[in-house]
Amino acid sequence: MTLILSTIAELRAQNAQWRSRGETLALVPTMGALHQGHLELVRQAKAEATRVIVSIFVNPTQFSAHEDLSKYPRPFEADLGHLRATEVDAVFTPSVVEMYGASFCTTIQVEGPAKVGLEDRFRPDHFAGVATVVAKLLLQSKPDCAVFGEKDYQQLAVIRQMVKDLDIGADIVGVPTLRETDGLAMSSRNIYLSAQERQIAPEIYQTLLSCSQNLQEKSPNHALAKARTHLETAGFKLDYLELRDASTLRQVSDPSQPARLLFAGRLGTTRLIDNIKV
Ligand code: PAJ
Repeated sequence: MTLILSTIAELRAQNAQWRSRGETLALVPTMGALHQGHLELVRQAKAEATRVIVSIFVNPTQFSAHEDLSKYPRPFEADLGHLRATEVDAVFTPSVVEMYGASFCTTIQVEGPAKVGLEDRFRPDHFAGVATVVAKLLLQSKPDCAVFGEKDYQQLAVIRQMVKDLDIGADIVGVPTLRETDGLAMSSRNIYLSAQERQIAPEIYQTLLSCSQNLQEKSPNHALAKARTHLETAGFKLDYLELRDASTLRQVSDPSQPARLLFAGRLGTTRLIDNIKV
């Protein structure tokens, strides 16, 4: 049975009951509009702990003024259907008032991986909103571990940093990006692509793969310039395509150290992100 919990008090009471029986807890934070990528996180969570809680909360503080919070999809019944079918133990769906109340005053500002000129360049307040809500979710549910996707690679690095710096004590588990058969990373934004854009979109992953191959033979500048030109010719408006250190996300000149290739760009009005290990 999948319990629906909508208050912090209910969540804490349920967790206390599980803890008293010696159960372990995994948390999967989401904003709903669930797809197979989210459910892959749930499957990983089930392997990590005896009880799995999925939170569904469309967090207003991580949206910028130009991003339309009110248009974010909220197919709650369909989400619940997926979570029941995956045998999730509890869904935590707090309201905005339950989460922030009327007098909320605290924001967690992460430096390091949150200020490296990738997503933060285009969404300046985004990671403060993410770090604050994830810290709250972790403190509300006190899980043994929390599971996040590598799809949002900078987000994962920011959360790891925040959890370490604040001694929150939950293990942060990263799950590889789940892709469509043509390589497009699964995302709730893919539904906004026109049929023609949907045909072009797999170029992101293909180009990341060929760029990664070129990095073995050519200088990073040369390999990256070639990939950028290729994507722009295919119809993308690039925000960035960069080679970064896999843990700090700082710029790297030597691709022999563990590195990550990260992309963000727009196809028509839809902004897509992706990344791969190099
Ligand atoms: P949301 O965009 O709903 O994503 C929830 C989780 O699903 C994130 O950890 C994300 O990286 C992961 N995910 C999305 N697509 C994936 C894919 N194709 N493969 C694997 N994992 C994937 O990210 C957020 O919500 C929010 O910022 C949140 C962390 C919940 C804080 O509000």
